[in-house]
Amino acid sequence: MALKDNTEIDKDKIPVHVAVIMDGNGRWAKRKGKERVVGHQHGVKAVREVTEAAAELGVKYLTLFAFSTENWQRPSDEVNALMSLLVTTLNAEISTLMENNIKLRTIGNLDIMPAQVRKNLMKTIDRTAENKGMTLILALSYSARWEIAKAAREMARDATEGKLNVDSIDELLFSEYLQTKDIPDPDILIRTSGEYRISNFLLWQIAYTELYFTKKLWPDIRKKDLVKAIIDYQRRERRFGRISEQTKMNVDR
Ligand code: IPE
Ligand code: IPE
Ligand code: MG
Repeated sequence: MALKDNTEIDKDKIPVHVAVIMDGNGRWAKRKGKERVVGHQHGVKAVREVTEAAAELGVKYLTLFAFSTENWQRPSDEVNALMSLLVTTLNAEISTLMENNIKLRTIGNLDIMPAQVRKNLMKTIDRTAENKGMTLILALSYSARWEIAKAAREMARDATEGKLNVDSIDELLFSEYLQTKDIPDPDILIRTSGEYRISNFLLWQIAYTELYFTKKLWPDIRKKDLVKAIIDYQRRERRFGRISEQTKMNVDR
């Protein structure tokens, strides 16, 4: 599907990595007098729209926060419904991924996902492994503090086993122990539903990410909303601690 309304987008300034906290499914359903799960079901369309739009615009990495470590505490009916929806969606969308040359990857603690979900994830990751277009990263059973603690644990283990020199630990090496190794930090983080918080998402990686909030609930999100967020991002000046004049001179980071 071709993108419309993107006349204002600067094709030379497309963010390399877009991260999204997809929020508001429950409230969307409640407003319509329906069960929360109906909101999750309608959220799938927004996932498809944003994924296709990002691929069409030339975004290289799209990370979607689909299920947090803390979300395991929700009522078991809702958790189960989300897990089945994930399996159904993976199977239904594999053709969309192939058509759009998208490679699937995950971050998060897959070990505690139900076996059926893991199996379908592995299958989809395998099938899309050779796709060279955008990488779609699903954050599942993910939380940033879990990821950072895991990295610290693995570094300590490597140091104890003599595989790592403690004095060599710097920011670059630390990031190699994170699940996002090989993935550049997000340029923009979008959160829907009018909540202004990070909810334990990518804490290390968003140090210099541009934040974009919209009041729209996730199931109402369409391609044009991603375009709008990117246009907003393109109007910003990213200074990375320097002053404006230096930024304009295009000084290397
Ligand atoms: C986001 O929508 C989806 C997940 C967290 C799985 P919510 O389910 O959090 O919806 P609200 O925030 O309760 O409206
Ligand atoms: C964040 O949304 C997690 C996902 C979008 C998967 P939540 O709805 O879980 O966040 P809080 O609880 O409002 O902070
Ligand atoms: Mg929520």
